[in-house]
Amino acid sequence: MKPRRSAGFAVLGLGMSALVACSNGDDVEVGAGTLQPAPPELLSYSCQEDATRSSSQAELDSSAPALRDSTHNVGAAVAAFRLDEDPAYGQTIAAQFNQLTPENEMKWEAIEPEPGVFDFTAADRLVTFARDNGMKVRGHTLVWHSQLAPWVEELVGPDAVREAMTRHIQTIVAHYRDNFPGVVVAFDVVNEAINVTQGAMGAAPQIYRDSIFYRELGEGFIAEAFQIAHDTDPDVLLFYNDFGVEASTGAKSTGMFDMVSGLVSAGVPINGVGFQMHTGPLDQGPNAADFATNIARYAALGLEVEVTEMDVSLCAIGDNLLGQELQRYRYNRIVSACFASPACRSVSLWGVADPNSWLNDNGCTQGMLTLDTLPAPLAFDDAYGRKAAWWGVYDALNGCTYQ
Ligand code: XIL
Repeated sequence: MKPRRSAGFAVLGLGMSALVACSNGDDVEVGAGTLQPAPPELLSYSCQEDATRSSSQAELDSSAPALRDSTHNVGAAVAAFRLDEDPAYGQTIAAQFNQLTPENEMKWEAIEPEPGVFDFTAADRLVTFARDNGMKVRGHTLVWHSQLAPWVEELVGPDAVREAMTRHIQTIVAHYRDNFPGVVVAFDVVNEAINVTQGAMGAAPQIYRDSIFYRELGEGFIAEAFQIAHDTDPDVLLFYNDFGVEASTGAKSTGMFDMVSGLVSAGVPINGVGFQMHTGPLDQGPNAADFATNIARYAALGLEVEVTEMDVSLCAIGDNLLGQELQRYRYNRIVSACFASPACRSVSLWGVADPNSWLNDNGCTQGMLTLDTLPAPLAFDDAYGRKAAWWGVYDALNGCTYQ
C-alpha cells in the first residue's frame, strides 16, 4: 500500500510505539516514547491514499481536500472580528467547515448589554457569513452564568429574572427564525448549569451551579428556558451543553445524565446534549470507548449528541512532533466515536488555527511556572496549514478510525 505521506519520524523506544490499524484496513503510526528517524515503511498514513500534506497556500485552493467534503456536519467556533482582520481566516473557514458557532457574539453581555437593548451586529455578521457560504450555525448560548451582562446579576427576585430570561430567549430565537430562516439550526439553550459539589455536613450533593438563574428560579429555570425557546421556534434544535461530562461515569457526568433524563421524562422540549470536549492528547478523560458508552445512553433517551467545542491542548506534552501525532490520534478517536453513533449530529472545533485559540489566553502553566510551549490545540497552524490533527479529523469524517 502506498504511504499517503511521510512525516519523517516515528515514535520508537520505550516499547510504546505502535502501527495502528485503521478501521478501513489501513495502518497509521501512533504511540508514545522518544522520537527517532524512522524507516519510511513504518509510516503508512494511508486512509486516503491520494491526499498529500500541502503548503499553507494550497489550503485555500478549492481543489484541496476539506473537512466539509464528507457527509457530516463539521464546525468551528468563529470570531466576527477576525473575519475583518484576516481574509485567510474566512477563506479557510468557508473552504473547510459547513457549520459555525459564534465564539462570543451571541453571549448575553454581547447581544443584550442593557435591559431590552439588543445588539445583533456581530452575531449577524457571522450568521450572514455562514448563510453566504452554505454553512449552518449553532447558536451559543442563551442562558449561561458566564459572560452575562452585569445588569442581569443585579436583578432581584424570581419575577425579574424570569422576565429577563424570557425576553432574552424570545428575542434572539425569533430574530434568527425570522431573519435567517434555516441557518441557525440549533441553540445551546442552557450552558454549564451542572457543578457537582458535596453537600454540607452529609447533606445530599449539590448538583447545580450557583447562578442568578438557579438562585432565583431553582433548577426549574432549565426546563423553563427550553420551553420558551421551543415555543418561539418549534423547528430549531435545542441543546444542553457542558464540559467535564464526556465520560460515562463520575459525579458530574451522572449529575448531568440524571438532570437530562428528568427533562426528557417530564416532556421538556430538549433535542440533544453537547459535550464541549476540551481535552488533551492522551486517549483518556474519557477514552473514546467510554465516550461512546456515554453517547449511547443519551441516544437511548432519544436525544441527539454533539461534540461542540473540541480542542486538544498540548500543554502537558508539548507542541512537538510526538504531541502533534498524539493529538491527531485523539482527534480521530473522539470524532470517530461521535459519528459512530447515528445520534451524533455534528462535531465542532473550538477555533480554527492555533493562534486563535482561547487557550492562548492562559498559555501553558504549571503552578506558578509558565511552560515553554503552547496549547496548539486546533487543526490548522499559524499559516492555516493543515496539522497532523487535521488529518485525524479528516480521516474520522471519512470513516477511517485509528485502532
Ligand atoms: C470562551 C471563548 O473562546 C473566549 O474567547 C472567551 O473569552 C471565554 O469563552 N465553554 C464555552 C465557551 O461554552 O463559550 C467558552 O468560550 C469556552 C468554554
